[in-house]
Amino acid sequence: MSIVKEVESIFPAETSIPQNALSGLPVEQDKYLIRGELRHWRGRVQEVFSQVCVKTSSGTSPKRLGIHPLLTEKESTEALNAAVEAYNNGRGLWPTMSVSDRIKHMEDFVCQMVEVKAEVVNLLMWEIGKSYEDSNKEFDRTVQYIRDTISALKDLDRVSSRFVIEQGIIGQIRRAPLGVVLCMGPFNYPLNETFTTLIPALIMGNTVVFKPPKHGVLLYSYLLEAFRDSFPQGVVNTIYGKGREVLPPLMASGKIDVLAFIGTGEAANQLRKQHPKLHRLRCILGLEAKNPGIILPDADLELAVKECILGCLSFNGQRCTALKILFVHSKIVDAFLGRFAEAIEGLRFGMPWEENVFITPLPEPGKTQYLTELMQDAFGFGAKVINDKGGTVNESFFYPAVLYPVSDKMRIYHEEQFGPLIPVLAFEDIETPIQYVIESNYGQQLSVFGSDPDVIARLIDPMVNQVCRVNINSQCQRGPDTFPFTGRKGSAEGTLSVSDALRVFSIRTLVAAKEVDINKKIITGIVRGRKSNFLSTDFVF
Ligand code: G3H
Repeated sequence: MSIVKEVESIFPAETSIPQNALSGLPVEQDKYLIRGELRHWRGRVQEVFSQVCVKTSSGTSPKRLGIHPLLTEKESTEALNAAVEAYNNGRGLWPTMSVSDRIKHMEDFVCQMVEVKAEVVNLLMWEIGKSYEDSNKEFDRTVQYIRDTISALKDLDRVSSRFVIEQGIIGQIRRAPLGVVLCMGPFNYPLNETFTTLIPALIMGNTVVFKPPKHGVLLYSYLLEAFRDSFPQGVVNTIYGKGREVLPPLMASGKIDVLAFIGTGEAANQLRKQHPKLHRLRCILGLEAKNPGIILPDADLELAVKECILGCLSFNGQRCTALKILFVHSKIVDAFLGRFAEAIEGLRFGMPWEENVFITPLPEPGKTQYLTELMQDAFGFGAKVINDKGGTVNESFFYPAVLYPVSDKMRIYHEEQFGPLIPVLAFEDIETPIQYVIESNYGQQLSVFGSDPDVIARLIDPMVNQVCRVNINSQCQRGPDTFPFTGRKGSAEGTLSVSDALRVFSIRTLVAAKEVDINKKIITGIVRGRKSNFLSTDFVF
């Protein structure tokens, strides 16, 4: 079948959707978690539709997935107060609990979480259009992240359980929580990226209010009971609703100590500005990026094409780490484009539950129109789509398009497209991509493809001072999750990785005493009698 015909018929009739993909739908989610209680919501609700559309007798339309509460300022303030009370100025049960007990709570949570894997994965597919295989990977990666976080905390705790004596002063230095954390993740990894801040924030003794992302809300309905049952009351509280209604009162209260947000810089700025005591607010932010791929004249083309396909088009290019612009040396640009277009033709596209599917519908309403506008803007400045039928649209489906030659006059050169539209520029002088990186407002990662160690080394040294990860002959990516993940300029604030995240959600705090007899006696009495969870030589195996 031709690409156009296949795109035209991409959406199935309800009757041809596999039964297991429909299981559990719709999800009428009318609960929210506050102060350890799952409260029923009887107010306004948000109808949730999937952009994975279905064919009906009256045409193609988004599939209804269910509802979730649209809470108001009143409930979001209650959620905040519950978190504030559970923290109780650092005197609450959770922030003063021993590390080993907090770990037990987290282990309970992960046990309950794995029991609802099938339901969560199914909703990931429907809510954000992620393929079944990648939705499974997102779930498994998140479970592994929690397990790795537990073992990283055990390592940290072992090191901190020692006393140090310096210049006649005895000290015990540990990490203590920061307070109340507001956590919000992005729609492209609604489970994983939310948990990469939520889990370390919790395990370090903070209390949390979290709001699921705009797409990827319903999957949390299966986790609410696990949160309720695994943590003391008020430690985890959820809010649902329009960000502009439920978030400003939280920030304006001045009671949020840490803003953990992954999304756009503009939204982060709006939130941050509302806090009355800016210097008291810590921000852990993952924001936009426009990572370039630089393909040098001696690149192994097969490898470069394979990695650029993954980099540009995994989850339809909707990753903050995606390669969002390609600079290809003019000597090989024609060969590269030919092979790249051919590789796109070999990609399977369709519904997220189909086996080996790579390109799927986009979850944001209006996204295909936005990508089409970017394409048309580029056409106006001389670019063309160089792959067969690139840019063909059917409702929420956008067939990947490679735009060439792109220039700085075009919107696609500057804007983070976050979708399957790939701008390509040819360069003669390596200064062209270098200047792009320097002038960019973003500084997350880049990929360089080549084979000469001297040339690559000359690029690495200046570029590691512009971005936070230089990938050699490999796509940009966050993982492995033990590696530091951050960005310069407008791309991030704070560093996340399994172990770094434990640090960003805590602060080094110490108990110190001059080395005199009375103090030695007091410390020995506290430690031997196990009277303090902080001043203690206990550690977790
Ligand atoms: O959207 C940004 C994600 O952190 C990227 O993670 O590179 O593992 O897909 P990934």
